[in-house]
Amino acid sequence: MYQTLELDRSDSILTLVIDRAAKLNALSSLVLRELSHLFSELRGARGNVRGMIITGAGERAFVAGADIAEMATMSADEGAAFGRLGQEVTERLEALPFPVIACVHGYALGGGCELAMACDYIYATEAAHFGQPEVNLGLIPGFGGCVRLIRLVGPGRAKELIYTGRTIGAYEAREIGLVNRVFATRAEMMGAAHESIAEIATRSPVAVDICKQVLTALPGRTTAQQLAAEAEGFWHAFMSDDKREGVAAFLAKRAPRFH
Ligand code: COA
Repeated sequence: MYQTLELDRSDSILTLVIDRAAKLNALSSLVLRELSHLFSELRGARGNVRGMIITGAGERAFVAGADIAEMATMSADEGAAFGRLGQEVTERLEALPFPVIACVHGYALGGGCELAMACDYIYATEAAHFGQPEVNLGLIPGFGGCVRLIRLVGPGRAKELIYTGRTIGAYEAREIGLVNRVFATRAEMMGAAHESIAEIATRSPVAVDICKQVLTALPGRTTAQQLAAEAEGFWHAFMSDDKREGVAAFLAKRAPRFH
């Protein structure tokens, strides 16, 4: 149904492949519109999906950025609309009601790094490269990169990466907190991402959902607002059947059965 995306399902885990390998999976308006549509559908009808992995087709790139050839002919207003579409995609991705892991092999540059940062966490192979090279094009990160890079790695490191447009490898990305884990091969990375979601899937679905909602809503709020959001989430968890089952199972010294 999509021209640039492939979606596979194995048990309760989705794998989304951005499939435009001839252009290093660059984000054209078509790719962005398809991602926006898919994320909106998944938000409305998640079924029993417990997590999603996002990766890029081919051996060279996760996503090498927004489509530069397409941007070459855009007016400023068209460019601004393109940026807003990219922001909408990363916002919808961040708001998905289940954990999402970016699995990066090859280039995650510009919009690719921005897409990965809108996932819950990032795994990478040793062959991964990250960066926000927009300043080389006379542009700035426009799909949420200015906002999310600062959150993830702090102002000093984010400013250095954005001002220089420097590309960094997987280990440096891990050292600064952009990447959680680095793997020797793509197969190992994909296996570990499946294991991570499978482990999450054994926990209370309601509690994991509430954790994601609370954690995603925290940035930019005051401490008092953050604590209020956590307290509200705690209340919702207390109201759930999963809390009754989880606590009863612990006290009865048996494994919980969450539905
Ligand atoms: N937008 C559009 N097309 C892109 C692209 C992008 N962001 N990144 C790569 N491509 C295309 C290339 O134009 C080329 O197409 P062609 O074969 O029809 O000429 C193809 O993908 C392969 O890329 P190529 O540049 O030949 O590969 P390389 O190994 O020499 O270099 C990169 C790889 C990633 C270093 C280089 O492609 C690059 O710098 N891309 C742009 C990265 C960027 O600035 N992203 C932020 C955009 S805001």
